[in-house]
Amino acid sequence: MTVHFIGAGPGAPDLLTLRGRDLIASCPVCLYAGSLVPEAILGHCPEGAKIVNTASMDLDQIMAEIHAAHADGHDIARLHSGDVSVWSAMGEQLRRIKAAGIPFTVTPGVPSFSAAAAALGAELTLPGVAQSVVLTRTPGRATSMPDGETLTNFAATGATLAIHLSIGNLDQVITDLTPAYGADCPVAVVYRASWPDEQIIHATLSTLKQAMHDGISRTALILVGRAIGADSFDESCLYSTDYDRRYRPQSADSPWASWSHGDD
Ligand SMILES: C[S@@+](CC[C@H](N)C(=O)[O-])C[C@H]1O[C@@H](n2cnc3c(N)ncnc32)[C@H](O)[C@@H]1O
Repeated sequence: MTVHFIGAGPGAPDLLTLRGRDLIASCPVCLYAGSLVPEAILGHCPEGAKIVNTASMDLDQIMAEIHAAHADGHDIARLHSGDVSVWSAMGEQLRRIKAAGIPFTVTPGVPSFSAAAAALGAELTLPGVAQSVVLTRTPGRATSMPDGETLTNFAATGATLAIHLSIGNLDQVITDLTPAYGADCPVAVVYRASWPDEQIIHATLSTLKQAMHDGISRTALILVGRAIGADSFDESCLYSTDYDRRYRPQSADSPWASWSHGDD
């Protein structure tokens, strides 16, 4: 018996890996985080599967389901939204599963920041503008931020910020970021990226408050940085005609001229 943690993607049922889909289809038990995992993904469960929405359960109750399936020898597909490596609560479940000696696997999913960038048609790392993306959040009712992980600290880097779980903290986001990024810095809010009711709001740090509306109260990502919607940026060396590189040596003298794929 194995517990398979699977990233279920940002919302669209077809933004799921083939491995994730096949694992779901092979498991007689499916535990899913129903607040964000779309029901359509449950269509991959085999007929007669036990399907449990864990949205209203506590960790002990979830572990009770896992122990019961373990006793029956039933594999579990454990679904969390987006990718399981960020804000999935997989860590605390894994700690208990490891302590109990229960086998597990982890299958990544499409994270919501990627889906939001895709909705914008944007690359978040543009040459000469931003070469880092910070996945972060602001403090919530139940979660404080570790010392040092403040928006003002991240803002000092000038990186593209993908701010999760924070649509209710817009005032703080604007206040903390404006000194470093400037009031005219582009912001995009992507609500329910890849869902049928997806919405996108383009603004700047100074216009964001007016641009928002009541319909967007949760499940939204705030992307901030000069790379959002930028037209003025350098071209990368990757496809530049005269850049000597391993896959495109420029002359017989190039250090890459005799390189073969087997050397790597
Ligand atoms: C509990 S976290 C889950 C993050 C998820 N594990 C991931 O990989 O993106 C929930 C937050 O992720 C963001 N989020 C999740 N799905 C989203 C979507 N489809 N569109 C926009 N933001 C989303 C929102 O900021 C939301 O408050």
